[in-house]
Amino acid sequence: MSKRVAILISGGGSNMVRLVEAMQADGFATPVLVASNDPAASGLSKAAQLGVPTAAIDHRPFGRDRAAFEAELLKPILAAEPDVLCLAGFMRVLTPDFVGRFAGRMLNIHPSLLPKYPGLHTHQRALDAGDAEAGCTVHEVTPVLDDGPILGQARVAIAPGDTAETLAARVLVQEHRLYPAVLKRFVAGERGPLLLG
Ligand code: GRF
Repeated sequence: MSKRVAILISGGGSNMVRLVEAMQADGFATPVLVASNDPAASGLSKAAQLGVPTAAIDHRPFGRDRAAFEAELLKPILAAEPDVLCLAGFMRVLTPDFVGRFAGRMLNIHPSLLPKYPGLHTHQRALDAGDAEAGCTVHEVTPVLDDGPILGQARVAIAPGDTAETLAARVLVQEHRLYPAVLKRFVAGERGPLLLG
């Protein structure tokens, strides 16, 4: 039975699209749900066009009550019975309780070469530090933000004159290569990090 994969997004969902397209083309897993914390996320319509069931739970009415928001978000997720949960441009911090429910089977893609630059504004921080390279990381999600075991990385040379925007655009291309390749390995039980140039 093909592994069932649910994907959480907050915005455009470009990584989600590549994950779904890779699963549909290769058959290594089955996308069973795309859910968002923002009902206006444009990725939701992209998922629907790809034939993937969607759900949207607006986090704003819940205010600072993360547990209440997550209790609602869990409903469509648990109904989809995923084996693996992929965060793909999902911009809400999840509680340890939520993360614990998917321990060892929740992945995230982060736009830096972790452990450098967890958190936000990763590209500007790499530029400000004068780094020679940037990149992206797929890691297992643990209760500590952007900190779990690394499953894959792709490196991108920083070019003279790069801005956070130009660098982000080049890193995003590598994210789209890395995430599907890592997910395919992950569902096959492979955990050794995949390192792309
Ligand atoms: C990407 O840079 C991803 O690394 C970060 O959110 C950005 C947008 O992702 N988490 P997507 O286009 O919504 O997949």
